[in-house]
Amino acid sequence: MKFSILLALAAAAAPALGSLNEKALAKGKHYFGNIADPNTLSDTNVQNILKSDFGMITPEYSMKWEATESVQGQFNFADADATMDFASSNGQKVRGHTLIWYASAPAFLTGLSKDDLTAAIKSHISTVVKRYAGRIYAWDVVNEIFEDSGEFRQSVFYTVLGEDFVDIAFRAASEADPAAMLYINEYNLEWAGPKIEAMIALVKRLKDRGVPIDGVGSQTHLELGKVDTVKDQLQYLADETGLDVAITELDIRIPLDVTEEKKQQQKTEYQTVVSACMAVESCVGVSLWGVSDKNSWVDQGMPGYDAPLLWDDNFAKKPAYDGVDAALN
Ligand code: XIL
Repeated sequence: MKFSILLALAAAAAPALGSLNEKALAKGKHYFGNIADPNTLSDTNVQNILKSDFGMITPEYSMKWEATESVQGQFNFADADATMDFASSNGQKVRGHTLIWYASAPAFLTGLSKDDLTAAIKSHISTVVKRYAGRIYAWDVVNEIFEDSGEFRQSVFYTVLGEDFVDIAFRAASEADPAAMLYINEYNLEWAGPKIEAMIALVKRLKDRGVPIDGVGSQTHLELGKVDTVKDQLQYLADETGLDVAITELDIRIPLDVTEEKKQQQKTEYQTVVSACMAVESCVGVSLWGVSDKNSWVDQGMPGYDAPLLWDDNFAKKPAYDGVDAALN
């Protein structure tokens, strides 16, 4: 009795020491991360928050194909290098994002033959991955290749090469940087249905073919009210694939209008999602998709929603921050 009172007192008195990243490490995870790129790093508020709370950086845009090689054979690494340098100088790990994504496929890929498309993929991946070899914790090799129905998305990659494009991409990445963890990354894996089943089935086929794959990224772009199945689905993904899993792009958007009550709900839901990764042994870490509500992709991509992140438009901590902190304590 006395002992438990002492424990309770100690817990109550314990200050919330350390950054979100340090707390995640103390829980046995590899990192707690966020995104960056020169456009947001130009704001010192963003820099300071990234330095104080985060141990992993994902370039938001600068490493995508359209950003690095929009004209065939002409590479531009200025923004990617700047983001890489920011991370390196702060001792942060980097998740490379992303080598193959339909939404950043440059125009020159359209109309290529099978052989030419294969050559273009190999050259792109080899050049980008070798440039940062040894400095990247994990690459999202392919991103968003399924429809919610579980069918392959009809991208230029799939329509020309079929499922082979996945094998080609992973093998090229592995050759270029054998040390990087290689991920397949997808959204809407947070609930049961054909999409998560398609993902699991593909990973099993890839493993059967000896394709080097290490992890599945569950983006976890959520809207308020959708967190109940996150943990079970993450566990299911880990169990069925036998791979590492990670929450790679977490945000929880609020349907307008944003009220104090909804912000409190958002806090609870952030706690639930981050706790899910803590509870799933194969979950290596959580990355958020943005620092401040001021700079979220939700503003462009998700009309009718707002305020998805942990810091508000003025860089003040929201209740959501405390939800994440509670999950890590
Ligand atoms: C988004 C970025 O946030 C935007 O700035 C960019 O213009 C488009 O891409 N899923 C992903 C991310 O895998 O790469 C997307 O990022 C958000 C959805």
